[in-house]
Amino acid sequence: MPIAIEVQSLTKRFKETEVLTGINLSVEKGTIFALLGPNGAGKTTLVRILTTLLLSDSGTATVNGINVAEDPDAVRSTIGLVGQNAAVDEKLSGIDNLRMIGELYHLSSADAKRRAQELIEQFDLVDAAKRPVKTYSGGMRRRLDLAASIIVTPPVLFLDEPTTGLDPRSRTAMWSVIRDIVAGGSTLFLTTQYLEEADQLADQIAVLNHGKIIAQGTASQLKQSIGSSRLVLTYKREAEAKKAVTILKDASLGSDGLTVTVELRKGFSQLTEATKQLSEAKLSPDDVTVHEPTLDDVFLSLTGEATKQ
Ligand SMILES: Nc1ncnc2c1ncn2[C@@H]1O[C@H](COP(=O)(O)OP(=O)(O)OP(=O)(O)O)[C@@H](O)[C@H]1O
Ligand SMILES: [Mg+2]
Repeated sequence: MPIAIEVQSLTKRFKETEVLTGINLSVEKGTIFALLGPNGAGKTTLVRILTTLLLSDSGTATVNGINVAEDPDAVRSTIGLVGQNAAVDEKLSGIDNLRMIGELYHLSSADAKRRAQELIEQFDLVDAAKRPVKTYSGGMRRRLDLAASIIVTPPVLFLDEPTTGLDPRSRTAMWSVIRDIVAGGSTLFLTTQYLEEADQLADQIAVLNHGKIIAQGTASQLKQSIGSSRLVLTYKREAEAKKAVTILKDASLGSDGLTVTVELRKGFSQLTEATKQLSEAKLSPDDVTVHEPTLDDVFLSLTGEATKQ
């Protein structure tokens, strides 16, 4: 697969503080890459370097094969960026903002007008189209921002926390817009603090913490890296839970009061086996749940810190 973004040994410091350390990553064309990390991890700093707004101290980065430090103008002509802060004019209406940006991209005034109207409809902003942006809600602004970034759909689009602060419904709507953009052939680099977002959207995920990438892979690779699914059995009495542990022997991770945890190392065949053994011993549990590892578990096991959900 051709590569859209390639980063090698990239480092950035602000005065004494190293904010990015030895970053390596590569993003295939036509895919979604999520840079996942908590506040202050260095996400925006990396996005600013890749979009030519900031120079790194060492290492290299290329976008569409062009070195961001050597030929920033050429890079800028192939990318779009939706930053953390809105880049639209507050005094203008939504539709006028889109038309103006279209004209900046050298669309004819008729084409800019048509494209603006199309996007206003696609992003569900028809009712607010003619109102000044300063009257828009946070979610409406984010949608307008994203619309502005795809007036002329760029080959590579950077989205810095596209859904932070949105309610769950707006977030889901934004995800579907993002998927549509990629279905059109663009490559997408997004940052997020939400594990679920990375899980839902990304082909590849890199976990950034204190300026370092601490894990990289697909959502399922990251989940598998921390272990297999677990079976949690709940009993009415502690004595039963203890007995179940002795019956399940090695498979059991032990009991904690009324619950017994079994690691399904051999997959789901083990589930039937465990159920059979327990029922033969007349120790059928009161409740059974299967716990699949989540990206949350991954983050917790890598950093010892919880993230936002
Ligand atoms: N211009 C600057 N001068 C000094 N320090 C900076 C500058 N820009 C960022 N930093 C520091 O670099 C670190 C990473 O910041 P960055 O904005 O990249 O984090 P982030 O992952 O985008 O966080 P958030 O999720 O809050 O947006 C932070 O400690 C921040 O204070
Ligand atoms: Mg940021």
